[in-house]
Amino acid sequence: MRIAIVGAGNVGTALAVLLQNAGHKITGIASRSEKSALLAAERAGVPHDTDPARFTKEADVVFLTTPDRAIASVCDQIAYAGGFSPETVVAHTSGAHSSDILRSAALAGARPVSFHPLQTFANADAGIRNLAGSFITIEGHPEALPVARQLVADLNCRLLEIPTGGKPLYHAAACIVCNYFTTLLDYGLKVMESAGVAREDALPALAPLIEGTFKNIMRVGPIQALTGPISRGDAGTVETHLEAMTKIMPEAIPLYRHLGQATVKLAKAKGTLGEPEKRELLKILGGVHE
Ligand SMILES: NC(=O)c1ccc[n+]([C@@H]2O[C@H](COP(=O)([O-])OP(=O)(O)OC[C@H]3O[C@@H](n4cnc5c(N)ncnc54)[C@H](OP(=O)(O)O)[C@@H]3O)[C@@H](O)[C@H]2O)c1
Repeated sequence: MRIAIVGAGNVGTALAVLLQNAGHKITGIASRSEKSALLAAERAGVPHDTDPARFTKEADVVFLTTPDRAIASVCDQIAYAGGFSPETVVAHTSGAHSSDILRSAALAGARPVSFHPLQTFANADAGIRNLAGSFITIEGHPEALPVARQLVADLNCRLLEIPTGGKPLYHAAACIVCNYFTTLLDYGLKVMESAGVAREDALPALAPLIEGTFKNIMRVGPIQALTGPISRGDAGTVETHLEAMTKIMPEAIPLYRHLGQATVKLAKAKGTLGEPEKRELLKILGGVHE
């Protein structure tokens, strides 16, 4: 396929290189700044421009890989310039937005689709290294979907299809498990530091625990993988945690309580927590008994 890229950042550059490696022809890379466009185009050995509509007309697929906030306006700009041929597949790579934000492309007769790599691109090289084997989530115009499925396969990725209306919640879920996990880990390191364990010692010490937990979750699911004092109904241990945190770092308590209450629900679902233990734990954690 002939593919044009608009937005020469981490995802745009990685897709240009990977799609080219897969045998597709990149017609050109456009970006807002000359510098980014040139840098990405040199990686792929293709032409570059700052006009978003420069390479789109002759493409079978146009990727809009700008930040989320610019996707609709860049799409409008290309449509206004007559840059979409009828039946061209126009894809964006946002997780939160659906293909609906490519309305101006649809009005021009093109076929919008969202094509979200469920992978983190800290930079273009990391994306190039990590994308194979990842899932790519797609939804959109029925005639764009076979093309998107083919591109997923060509990138050696796996396919996840989602209803158009599900995109914001799907992306919220991805942010919870990816970004909030990172925040949670940092929170644990801060509590460790308060206990007198240096951050640089704590992280490698926690790594096998994190890996073991992840393996268990993948094997038996989160409910059965749950262990720890809440799962066992050890209310006294939870009280000890809260007392220690009150003295040293009271700011850590709200998150501990909130996640503790959610963990009580998980333990109840696992079946290891009786009704009296559940009541006692919720009382300690400041939760509401349902
Ligand atoms: N990074 C990730 O981990 C990740 C993962 C999955 C999906 N995504 C999605 O992929 C998309 C791109 O993300 P990214 O991380 O690659 O962003 P990024 O690195 O910030 O790159 C965005 C690129 O678009 C260019 N751009 C900005 N406004 C533009 C405009 N009006 N016209 C043309 N180009 C414009 C930027 O500007 P300059 O030309 O000025 O440099 C930059 O080169 C987003 O929708 C994001 O949600 C990202």
